[in-house]
Amino acid sequence: MWNIMRTLIMACTLLASLQLRAEDGYRLWLRYDRIDDPALLTQYRSSVTAMVFPAPSPTLLVARNELLDDLGSMLDKKLPIRTTPSDNCILAGTPSSSPVIAQLLSSKYPGLAGDGYVLHSQLVEGKHLIIIAAHSDIGVLYGVFAFLRLLQTHQPIQNISLSSSPLVQRRILDHWDNLTRTVERGYAGASIWNWHLLPDYIDQRYIDYARANASIGINGTVLTNVNANSLVLTPLYLQKVRALADVFRPYGIRVYLTAKFSAPVDIGGLKTADPLDPAVQKWWKDKCDEIYSLIPDFGGFLVKANSEGQPGPQTYGRTHTDGANMFADALAPHGGIVMWRAFVYDVRPQRKNEHFDDNPAHAEGHKAATADAGTSKTPVVDSGAHNIPVSRPSPGEISAPDRFKQAYAEFTPFDGKFRPNVLIQVKNGPIDFQPREPFSPLFGAMSKTPLMMEFQITQEYLGQGTHLVYEAPLFKEVLDADTYANGKGSTVAKIIDGSAFHPGQGSPFTTPTLQPGISPGGQTTADQLAAAPLTGMAGVSNIGNERNWTNHPFGQANWYAFGRLAWDHTLSARQIADEWVKQTFSNNTMVVSAIEKMMMASREAVVNYMTPLGLHHIMSSSGHYGPGPWLNNAPRADWNPVYYHRADAYGIGFDRTATGSNALTQYQPQVRQQWLDSNTCDEKFLLWFHHVSWSHKMKDGHTFWDELCNRYQSGVDTVKWMQRQWKSLAGLIDKERFTQVSMLLNIQEKEAEWWRNACLLYFQTFSRMPIPPGVGHTDQTLEYYKSLRFPYAPGTGISL
Ligand code: GCU
Repeated sequence: MWNIMRTLIMACTLLASLQLRAEDGYRLWLRYDRIDDPALLTQYRSSVTAMVFPAPSPTLLVARNELLDDLGSMLDKKLPIRTTPSDNCILAGTPSSSPVIAQLLSSKYPGLAGDGYVLHSQLVEGKHLIIIAAHSDIGVLYGVFAFLRLLQTHQPIQNISLSSSPLVQRRILDHWDNLTRTVERGYAGASIWNWHLLPDYIDQRYIDYARANASIGINGTVLTNVNANSLVLTPLYLQKVRALADVFRPYGIRVYLTAKFSAPVDIGGLKTADPLDPAVQKWWKDKCDEIYSLIPDFGGFLVKANSEGQPGPQTYGRTHTDGANMFADALAPHGGIVMWRAFVYDVRPQRKNEHFDDNPAHAEGHKAATADAGTSKTPVVDSGAHNIPVSRPSPGEISAPDRFKQAYAEFTPFDGKFRPNVLIQVKNGPIDFQPREPFSPLFGAMSKTPLMMEFQITQEYLGQGTHLVYEAPLFKEVLDADTYANGKGSTVAKIIDGSAFHPGQGSPFTTPTLQPGISPGGQTTADQLAAAPLTGMAGVSNIGNERNWTNHPFGQANWYAFGRLAWDHTLSARQIADEWVKQTFSNNTMVVSAIEKMMMASREAVVNYMTPLGLHHIMSSSGHYGPGPWLNNAPRADWNPVYYHRADAYGIGFDRTATGSNALTQYQPQVRQQWLDSNTCDEKFLLWFHHVSWSHKMKDGHTFWDELCNRYQSGVDTVKWMQRQWKSLAGLIDKERFTQVSMLLNIQEKEAEWWRNACLLYFQTFSRMPIPPGVGHTDQTLEYYKSLRFPYAPGTGISL
């Protein structure tokens, strides 16, 4: 009897723990629980009773298993697999697997190309079929996930007729993961790549990572940090990379690596890494041959060169084209590409407001200093107290050193000079992933060079692992911004998908998949690239080995949103939130509506409580965690918040008009016009372009100072409102995630108040104006906020 009791208790405990684990966030948006609406369940069950799904390739096999398992669990019944269609059957495959599919694609979807898919219901010989079709195997997998999404979000499946194709070709996650398993700017634990146990130990996480990415159309992963370590290119590590590539291949995900420019010296025994030296070129060619012998579909290299201490061609007096084209030539015979980053700035510790030379032709002069700086990152130190109002610098002083202008200055002279298999990877804004930035002026400035978007999914400047900030509105704001580069409507998205300068690209159905080497049609890689220039979008990953992948359960939404927008940038932020919430939490209308509202308000909230009205780069140097607008002792002027906000007794903001750095000239006249005048400039960008007085009149009649205070308060208020929204969902969300998010929202509230208090106390030392009524006060002093230190804040992961 006692034994039976004990067994029962153990069974109950196990069950309880299984149930608990079930909502620990590990399953992401791929939960596929039983459909909880009985009427809908009956309807789905009668519409789908069997499937015909030949699976002659690894990709089709994972697609079939995914469909079988997930439908099995959502419908709570196992579907039989048949060889010929029965009534209410799914038919999945490519034209080569089924004449019905061949006929459907040629008659109804003649334009479908590349990796797009079709979901189509049709009566064939008196039988109702739901057809999941594509030209490629991976397209079928994408179609399977799209079909599953319809069910998870409770959409009708009876009369469907839809198709979807990716608008950009390379949809890539950039991991800033070090071989030590630290993650630079990572807030979700250690790297998921367990380098020590690879290649023999394949963690289930690798497979689930691939599934999650494939489900949103991501087709590439850069495994290593842009602050690169040459070791990953040694035979020992390449075996490990190969093991990951083998896992990801069936899911259509190619592996890429970061290439350290100095690798021929670091691991190759050469004396130089000069890109024009034949021995160096040969070294890279041999290295590429070696990589492709192990990983035939290797994607290529991501390179951070001559930026923040990374070596690059300028180290040897060469140019970005010399460097990028050397890699391109080594990769081209194999179909590989180079993603060459435009996030560059001179690495010398400069004096404050030191003259900065915009002319890349003078890079030679920087050579010695750059080489001296070596390859290590100079750590930024916290400043001591600084509350003496600085005098307003003269326009001449400001105009020289604006980091905003450097990428444009360094890259536009080389437009059209890169090989066709080079993508220039440009951060969304001109500085560094701030809560709000104007779009980078490089977008639209290089009509003959494919530019790739780089977003940051990890929330380095957006509350890191603890703030609920839904980033799709940020991504969309940039993608939808008009560059006017080729007339009105040349949005950043159209620059990225190629359609702004190459009409026809970027529209569905015209995004070919690049085949390595020579394609069956006899086309070389170069031919293919000339016919359809490369397009791509990258997101710096927020993934770590925390059980729920991203630490904050809502971090998952940003991973999801990135993938969905990389696939189709025309989707709206709300639409993506709607899908994500339904799949991740519930289809309950109260839940969906409350969470969507929170998500949609969250980005503006973080802008308000951190950097309202165009403030930027005013965070602390302790891992960029928390506010630090007073900091002024970093070795480079442009690592200091005071360099960016320029607060003084007169006012605040960075004058980038003709009286200041004149960075505005890097934009097309129509864009410049929007931001040129401080009285008409969109206030969300005001301090990006203007140094305005504390009493500057805002559009709503407030003085600038009052408006600044109100914005900080409004950010805090929104977080408090988010807390109330979340609380109203008690009982409608599983306990584990409900509690987690509640705790994180409490941290967010505290930190939003911290930002408000510290920034307002500090800026008040310049404005000398009272905090307006309704804006929260603190009993703490500015000195207290300045004294805070966080030496072990996560994400500093500098160790490579
Ligand atoms: C930011 C970030 C660094 C990163 C760099 C980059 O400066 O703080 O950690 O290395 O961007 O994008 O290269």
